[in-house]
Amino acid sequence: MTSTSDGTQNLSTHALIGIVTVSDRASRGDYEDRGGPAIRAYLERVLASGWSAQAALVPDEQDQVAQAIRELAAAGCCLILTTGGTGPALRDVTPEATEAACSKMLHGFGEAMRTASLKAVPTAILSRQTAGICDGALVINLPGQPKAIAECLDAVFAAVPYCIDLIGGPYISTNTEHIEAFRPASAVRPVAVD
Ligand code: MTE
Repeated sequence: MTSTSDGTQNLSTHALIGIVTVSDRASRGDYEDRGGPAIRAYLERVLASGWSAQAALVPDEQDQVAQAIRELAAAGCCLILTTGGTGPALRDVTPEATEAACSKMLHGFGEAMRTASLKAVPTAILSRQTAGICDGALVINLPGQPKAIAECLDAVFAAVPYCIDLIGGPYISTNTEHIEAFRPASAVRPVAVD
């Protein structure tokens, strides 16, 4: 049963998921957003429980990225995935915006994603991607390269459902042929409630 530190339980299994594409050029319409659709495709493949998405497309401006994260959390998202703006270039500010919006940081997500990505590409070390908690939502940064999305999420997604349990979100289940969610035995629910 999902149980949070304040003792409340969330019996829902439906997840509202925020998707934030951070890109000057995609937000100007210079090119099509490919990161947002790649995140949706990943979620379609991996999530077994019900979900819906709310998307935002913002330029590489720290205040606008932080504002998009805060608004999606306030709208009830339990998970917010950002894509883009994690690198070392002058305009890359997604990690700073994430830290500004979050009350707690979960540095292990960035470490695990970089470690996994380094097996695919040496430039994975250039991503400063991180994760944290903003108002009941787990926020995870992903690089802007569409193929990086599955490479990164595959490395951490097994821990995502239990993290969402712990912050009072819905009880999410995964398609086990793609990702086997890990929960301590005491946190596993026998039957879906929705
Ligand atoms: N991680 C994976 N898995 N695959 C990639 O292709 N690209 C890297 C890195 N992480 C990449 C990756 C590169 S080239 C950069 S510059 C950084 O992510 C930052 O990308 P971003 O600024 O688009 O977020």
